[in-house]
Amino acid sequence: MTGGDILGFQRNLAPTPVSDAEREALLVNPGFGKVFTEHMVTVRYADSKGWYDARVEPFGPIPMSPATAVLHYAQEIFEGMKAYRSSDGGVTLFRPDANARRFRDSARRMAMPEIPEELFLGAVRELVTVDEKWIPGQAESSLYLRPYMIASEVFLGVRPSAEYLFGVIACPVGAYFKGGPTPIKLWISEEYTRAAPGGTGAAKCGGNYATSLVAQAEATREGCDQVVFLDTTERKYVDELGGMNIFFVYDDGTLVTPPLTGTILPGITRDSIIQLARDAGHQVVERPYSVDEWRADAGNGRLREVFACGTAAVVTPVGTLRSAAGEFSVGDGTPGEVTLKLRAQLLDIQQGRAKDPHGWVQKAL
Ligand code: PLP
Ligand code: COI
Repeated sequence: MTGGDILGFQRNLAPTPVSDAEREALLVNPGFGKVFTEHMVTVRYADSKGWYDARVEPFGPIPMSPATAVLHYAQEIFEGMKAYRSSDGGVTLFRPDANARRFRDSARRMAMPEIPEELFLGAVRELVTVDEKWIPGQAESSLYLRPYMIASEVFLGVRPSAEYLFGVIACPVGAYFKGGPTPIKLWISEEYTRAAPGGTGAAKCGGNYATSLVAQAEATREGCDQVVFLDTTERKYVDELGGMNIFFVYDDGTLVTPPLTGTILPGITRDSIIQLARDAGHQVVERPYSVDEWRADAGNGRLREVFACGTAAVVTPVGTLRSAAGEFSVGDGTPGEVTLKLRAQLLDIQQGRAKDPHGWVQKAL
């Protein structure tokens, strides 16, 4: 069955809508991932039926048996994307087709059914339409959308589930790092790794985040904002952060970023930054980048800026790298020029303030 066959979502809207005053109060400082909109989308899948039962319902618990497969073997994937209120009052999505494709790739890796792109996008648009009032209007604010899929078969055997639940939830968000674009501090995880060749590093599956948490907790204990994971073979090369990709900016304007070899998430922000940097005349090199190089070039001044990027974090400057051996910094504690320029360009395109030369922004409504 194709997505087009079931795009009629059955709407069962919240009987007592949140008042305008209450919603406005929640939108003032929503933080990240704490305030949810009033509705959610769900679509079911069974091997025997294909995709069926597409609905919009009030946001709330999903009752499930304690023997549901996802609770035991973590067969789960998700996406992260944003809807923006544009300057003309409309609502836009940034490269939603790229999220749909990555969701499909994640599904393949996790032995889950592929959701048709038009169903994935239709579900996102449906939720944005129903909960439009929850899209904040301030700069740097947006509606974060979280599509996900879980193995829903009630069965403890170890094999791909025969049933799945696909859903979308949404939350209004402000800046991910509360300090705005001030440089963050990273901790290198030397004990724990995130993803090995042949593993699930390139898939956006919950398991990758579950295994990152002990390292992220260590980073927090060390006074750092995020953890940097290294390659699993030599423990020498930078892979990515717990929830972001990373770029290094050199004195000749070259940008270096770790390559997509299957162990890191192919970030949509990463891809967009590569394109915008090339458009602006920067050379961008995708190659393995070692911590030794980072330290040496920070010391000799050739490495001018480091930044992290992702949907939630947009573009965030990185100042200090800390490990058991000590710490060193790049820059003077303020965000670098190239970092700020790329960040502003990306936000301006996403929020409709600048031309969109690559056709990334799509009208949601
Ligand atoms: N790497 C990881 C581990 C992430 O969780 C994310 C966030 O989604 C990214 C990179 C950046 O990906 P994107 O730019 O598509 O949000
Ligand atoms: C995102 O940027 O969308 C992420 O998924 C990062 C994190 C919140 C998990």
